[in-house]
Amino acid sequence: MADQYEVSETGAGTLAIPSLRWEEFPESPAVVLLDQTRLPAEEVELVCTDVPALVQAIQTLAVRGAPLLGIAGAYGVALAAVRGFDVEEAAEALASARPTAVNLGYGVRRAVTAYRRAAAGGDGAEAAAAALAEARAVHAEDVEASARMAQHGLDLLGELLPGGGHRILTHCNTGALVSGGEGTALAVALAVHRAGELRRLWVDETRPLLQGARLTAYEAARAGMAYTVLADGAAGSLFAAGEVDAVLIGADRIAADGAVANKIGSYPLAVLARHHRVPFVVVAPTSTVDLETKEGAAIEVEQRPGKEVTEFSLPHIQGGGVVGGTGIPVAPLGALAYNPAFDVTPAELVTAIVTEAGVVSPVTRERLADVCSVSRWR
Ligand code: MRU
Repeated sequence: MADQYEVSETGAGTLAIPSLRWEEFPESPAVVLLDQTRLPAEEVELVCTDVPALVQAIQTLAVRGAPLLGIAGAYGVALAAVRGFDVEEAAEALASARPTAVNLGYGVRRAVTAYRRAAAGGDGAEAAAAALAEARAVHAEDVEASARMAQHGLDLLGELLPGGGHRILTHCNTGALVSGGEGTALAVALAVHRAGELRRLWVDETRPLLQGARLTAYEAARAGMAYTVLADGAAGSLFAAGEVDAVLIGADRIAADGAVANKIGSYPLAVLARHHRVPFVVVAPTSTVDLETKEGAAIEVEQRPGKEVTEFSLPHIQGGGVVGGTGIPVAPLGALAYNPAFDVTPAELVTAIVTEAGVVSPVTRERLADVCSVSRWR
């Protein structure tokens, strides 16, 4: 049974609110999440004391974004192990909660492998401790990866745009809310901001679930960045006006050929960027690279409920609930909807992939495999 409950608003009002943490409550250990469906209006934590609750939080996007899904998956396995539930069953449920972000399976696999290894010695408590230690390692590595990507990305932008004063367009949400650290693409934008080189952060609202308007703008405001939110369809006119110097996005899965699956609306930005000769830069840890998936066409793209498109559902305003749940209809009753959560951008449109282990540019199968081979964490 799903055991998920809310605790009151954190009210902390600082950037330091962790998006996810492991907590040893006296009654039960728990994975505690900042409920991202309620942002920016409310900072409410969701306490998950069992795996079904965590799976539900993943599917409703209370917890989301590739690196954080990896961390959540790993802690989920630890939660099952520490509470004495069926770890293999829990791992299966967690890994299949969403199909596209490869980090989810990566985090689950790391924790379950550590668990199995220790369980072979016959001691359940030791095996649970091993799963938890591995989840903590996945979490800590993401903090370090995030800092490294930020530095590599800052250096790369310095080379690509020697004039400084960058105007960066970003899509979806890639900051501290998706990471143990400061994120992926937004971590680079933050580094640019701290270096005094950010002239403007253009924030795509990111329909249909508004991860840009709700979450990236929330993070940008807290960091004191100069930002402007735009409707996704307005990006073309920004490029045409010469107002974009670079596009920075994250990734949910990168195939061996360098094709990048990311939030729906990323591919059109890549096409625009190429037309306007603007660098299109993807920032992702090597744990997001899936060398088993040989090409972009083989990436499974999550299809989400049509209601997310045909209704406006604003849980952060309507007092909680499920994204895509009871909403205000914006299309005629019975309208069909096309609602893929991600699209796939081919490698030839990607200027560079920034990882914690280095920058891949030009993006080729060989260079991507090389960077993965020097990563400590693969
Ligand atoms: O559906 P979401 O909100 O989980 O999608 C997230 C994204 O598409 C992010 O851009 C991606 O995970 C990269 S985050 C570092």
